[in-house]
This record gives sequence, C-alpha cells and structure tokens, in this order.
Amino acid sequence: MLKGRNLIEPGDYSLEEMDGLFSVAEKIEDDKNYLRESCRGKLLATLFFEPSTRTRLSFEAAMLRLGGSCLGFAEPGSSSAAKGESLSDTIRTVACYADAIVMRNPKEGAALLASRVSGVPVINAGDGGHHHPTQTLTDLLTIRRLRGELGNLTIGFCGDLKFGRTVHSLAKALSRYPGVKEIFISPPELKVPGYITQGVLEKEMIPYKEAEKLEDVIGDLDVLYMTRVQRERFFNEEDYIRLKDFYVLTKDKMKNAKKEMVILHPLPRVNEIAAEVDDDPRAVYFKQARYGMYIRMALLASILGALC
Ligand code: CP
Repeated sequence: MLKGRNLIEPGDYSLEEMDGLFSVAEKIEDDKNYLRESCRGKLLATLFFEPSTRTRLSFEAAMLRLGGSCLGFAEPGSSSAAKGESLSDTIRTVACYADAIVMRNPKEGAALLASRVSGVPVINAGDGGHHHPTQTLTDLLTIRRLRGELGNLTIGFCGDLKFGRTVHSLAKALSRYPGVKEIFISPPELKVPGYITQGVLEKEMIPYKEAEKLEDVIGDLDVLYMTRVQRERFFNEEDYIRLKDFYVLTKDKMKNAKKEMVILHPLPRVNEIAAEVDDDPRAVYFKQARYGMYIRMALLASILGALC
C-alpha cells in the first residue's frame, strides 16, 4: 500500500494509511510468523550520523525478522562523510546498494534532501530538532493498543518541550484525531514552540493548556508522555544543569494519576522517571520500545512491497 514511498514527517501519510500500518503491526504482534521472510533478498541501509539505540536496532531487528538484510554505519566517522563527502553524494551512492535507506542526521531538513536525490525510499529516523516520524508511529500504536483508541483522550507532554522533536511530531499527529486535549508541562525556558500551539493546535481548534507543575495536572491525564532534557541541543552546559532534573516522576507523584493512565517515554531516559516507577503497570515505555519494532516491520514490509 505504501510501496516505494518515503517517510519524512508523520503528515506524509493519511490517517487511513497509518491505520493500515497499525493493523499490520498488531497482526505481527499477535502472530509472530506473519510476514516472516516476506523481505528475503531485500537490503536495508541504516545511516546514523547521530547516536541511537532503539531506532537503529529496532529497524535492523525489524528487517532481519522480515527475512531481509542490513548494512550501514552507526558512527559517521567511519564513513566517507569524515573525508568531507556531501550528504547528497553519500545517499546517491548508498541508493546503488540498498532497497531502502533509514537515516538519522543532526541537520533539520537532511532527510528531505536525501529523499530528493535518492533512487530508493528514504525513512527519516530523526533530523535534528525537526521530525522523528517512526517514533510518532510507535507512540500512536502504543496508545491505540493500550488505550483502545487514538481519539477522546487527554495527553500531557512533560519535560523538554522546546527541543523534543518526538513531542512536536506526536502533538501534531494527535491533532488529527477527534476529542483530543493536550497539556504541555515544562519550565518556561523549555516551552513548546509557537508553531505547534498557534500554528497547529489553534488552527485545528484543539484544546490545549500549558502548566509548570506536573502535580497540578497529572490527575487529568489519560496519557503522560515524559521526555528527557536534550543536552545535545543546549547551547550552554549551565542551562542544561539547571534544568535537567526539573521533573522527576516518582511513585509518590503517581498517587494522584488515574488508574488507567499510561506513561510513555520515547527513551532514553536520564533521570526524569525514577526506576521505582518501572514496576507500576501504568509504566509502558519498554512495551513502547517493542511496539517500535512491530511498526517498523509493518512500515518496511509496506514500503518494500512485501504486503499483498
Ligand atoms: N527513541 C529514540 O529515538 O531512541 P534512540 O535515540 O535510542 O534511537
């Protein structure tokens, strides 16, 4: 259904196309043999110009579980980028070898540029503070699977809402579903940008509010989306140190949360969720990481034309 298509930002796919992916991912979770070997003979290139654990390894696990193979690099210093090769030339070259390219790059717009010169589909695995669409698909699948639907819920985003690209993408993606309310919980320095609140939510008439204290709003939430303060995007270390522990979710703070609320986190976490919360059945961030592999299996099978 998505054969040959790029994925640069979540809005690239219609709601129907995303629903189709979620259904395939759910089928994969329910039947481990579904689509097994469907990508045999296909090759995926994973080009990571920035560190990653989940995105790179879940893409590679997804491809291997579909029967395909992977090549690529996790460290740009080991590629000819270190000799000054342009991104365009790197992509043109890799497209000669692989059937699809997954790329993470610190520069906003890098994935779009790659898709314009690539002879094979490009999947954006994160471009700076811009988009991380497969994380958004992961988040949506997790919510759909564990809450039963993507509409009619109140979601709270907490932490670094300025630099957190996963927040921007998910806030925007959820605005496409009915009955969604969004609450942004951050210190003043890390507020969600106006292009999300005014540019998307106000335009779409999605109710939202901003808060500084998690305790003031936690009882209203169906989903709490925690994020880490993004050290790598700060201009100075002093500000990072001042803000890094602004929010720490503890068992005590969870006392006021709804019984059926779910806690998501794109991970990695640093200190913003205390390890004591991990045993709470509402803490679903490791399940979320697993859903990341299922949705990437569905996406790869779809883009590579392995779905009938
Ligand atoms: N969620 C996420 O993108 O994790 P990684 O940085 O480990 O890939």
